[in-house]
Amino acid sequence: MAKRMEDFTVKANRSLNHDLFVLELTGNSYLPVLKPGQFIQVRIDGSQETFLRRPISIHDVDYDQNTIKLLIQIAGKGTEALSGIKEGEKLNIIYPLGNSFSLPSENATILLIGGGCGVAPLMFLGKYLKSKGYKPEILLGFRNSERIIEYDEYASIGPVYLTTEDGSKGEKGFVTDHTVLQQRRFDHICCCGPEPMMKAVAGYCSGKDILCEVSLEHLMACGFGVCLCCVVTTVKGNLCTCTDGPVFNTKELKW
Ligand SMILES: Cc1cc2nc3c(=O)[nH]c(=O)nc-3n(C[C@H](O)[C@H](O)[C@H](O)COP(=O)(O)OP(=O)(O)OC[C@H]3O[C@@H](n4cnc5c(N)ncnc54)[C@H](O)[C@@H]3O)c2cc1C
Ligand code: FES
Repeated sequence: MAKRMEDFTVKANRSLNHDLFVLELTGNSYLPVLKPGQFIQVRIDGSQETFLRRPISIHDVDYDQNTIKLLIQIAGKGTEALSGIKEGEKLNIIYPLGNSFSLPSENATILLIGGGCGVAPLMFLGKYLKSKGYKPEILLGFRNSERIIEYDEYASIGPVYLTTEDGSKGEKGFVTDHTVLQQRRFDHICCCGPEPMMKAVAGYCSGKDILCEVSLEHLMACGFGVCLCCVVTTVKGNLCTCTDGPVFNTKELKW
């Protein structure tokens, strides 16, 4: 798919809690068809320390409104600068980058698992799967009830199962502790979140004939296969997270 470099206009910047916010962006030209799992590289102007673009997943897409949404967690200088961007300001973006989650087989039972800010690509994926006639279910894990975000929007896609580490909402523990994973069998699991969580989910799926895909959040520089700073070791050799991923079948990863 051809890559574009475009100025997008900020339509809204909505704070969800002290370090998470959603940017809604609109472009001058019509959006191309985007796929869940793909990401953008955003340029952050005005600082020597942030001269490299930052990779951010596509959180949601509205073709009628010609908008994309990004769910961003403040992690450092770049994301902090983005948190202060105002309605009407421009952001330069290279997109669409990377591969996407695969389409499950017909009648497959599907579970989307996300933790913390790692839920970002799952909103777009869940809505996309629903629009294609699938019935995805969603398992989300957060540190505590105050960290839960966009619950109602996920619940409009399908059943949502919740865990919090302190038990303040949903079941207590990590996503892999949730009883739904003991009581039900899913054919296809898509997961995004902190690496230990994705490894635990991959461990749960291995040996059970569950197709498990994860979206890796590797450190990146170029975002389109030139600098080789995002290499991941797989059974197929060394692959670039930015062009061969960020979505990988966990059977292929040599973690
Ligand atoms: C394919 C992909 C999709 C992503 N999607 C999202 C998203 O939807 N929302 C979101 O909030 N973040 C996402 N990230 C992570 C995001 O890119 C980093 O948090 C961001 O680049 C940090 O930039 P910074 O200038 O704020 O922090 P920096 O000052 O550059 O770094 C601050 C801290 O964040 C860590 N960090 C830097 N880059 C990354 C990275 N790429 N992945 C993980 N940790 C990193 C650094 O090691 C450091 O500890 C994604 C990363 C990738 C590779
Ligand atoms: S980020 Fe440059 S090759 Fe992947």
